[in-house]
Amino acid sequence: IEPDAAWAEEVRELARQRDAVLLAHNYQSPAIQDIADHTGDSLALSRIAAASDASTIVFCGVHFMAETAKILAPEKTVLIPDARAGCSLADSITGAQLRAWKAEHPGAVVVSYVNTTAEVKAETDICCTSSNAVDVVASIPEDREVLFCPDQFLGAHVKRETGRDNIHVWAGECHVHAGINGPELAERAAANPDADLFIHPECGCATSALYLAGEGTVPREKVKILSTGDMVHAARDTKAKTVLVATEIGMLHQLRKAAPEIDFRAVNERASCRYMKMITPAALLRSLREGVDEVHVDLETAARARASVQRMIEIGQ
Ligand code: 13P
Ligand code: SF4
Repeated sequence: IEPDAAWAEEVRELARQRDAVLLAHNYQSPAIQDIADHTGDSLALSRIAAASDASTIVFCGVHFMAETAKILAPEKTVLIPDARAGCSLADSITGAQLRAWKAEHPGAVVVSYVNTTAEVKAETDICCTSSNAVDVVASIPEDREVLFCPDQFLGAHVKRETGRDNIHVWAGECHVHAGINGPELAERAAANPDADLFIHPECGCATSALYLAGEGTVPREKVKILSTGDMVHAARDTKAKTVLVATEIGMLHQLRKAAPEIDFRAVNERASCRYMKMITPAALLRSLREGVDEVHVDLETAARARASVQRMIEIGQ
């Protein structure tokens, strides 16, 4: 199916008939981002899902995001256009693994990235996203141990920013971001000496970027470690003419819309998440026509998970 005018019209009409709000993550393909009512990062979309008065949420993103919407709004119907849209990072820790880790560190506060299953969130004290991970950890008393999961690179970023040494970090990673590596970034930065670097904290190259700044290859103020939503804000503020972007390439669409005069270049053009791209124009249409794939979370897990997601949403509001 081509995302043409007839497609757009049918999508909008079916959404109206279902009283559905369409949410799209910044990594979705451009046609999906453009048809959505709201496009944003995972924190912004969670907040919108919680506040929306639509009776149905169609989540164009990956499964844990739709599950988070269901946890926050259990009375709503939550649809994901393709339930197979998983996440390699969310798969890197299970509820049982987290329970075993907690047993090794009694009394520690568990902070989980929102890229986790409902079962993991149910074992968590406070969730976080890339845009508020530092604030969430900073809200925990200094003398309490912290277990941070599942992303090792975001964990390293939080350790660096908070200066705390009582944070234990799980060794998970996102295969897309881990693949955006330091040597590649260094090469691109050397070829574009005036460019800003926008780097998602899940990237394997975030530490390398700070290293480049430390050795003077790139001015420190040009290295910006940002969530996808904060990249859009930074795009509106920067004076740079070129920006090198280290994250999933779907992000380039929102950045180019936000600041058309800037030349945004991917650090790694192959950094495409195949799970995010399962939400095709055809899948979205099928979802709205047939009311599929519905996301369910059992009530007890949802209630426990909700407490940790709610704490996250309250921080920094
Ligand atoms: P954010 O939108 O919170 O930056 O998350 C990035 C991500 O990898 C989601 O899959
Ligand atoms: Fe998961 Fe990585 Fe895809 Fe985001 S980009 S959904 S973290 S696999």
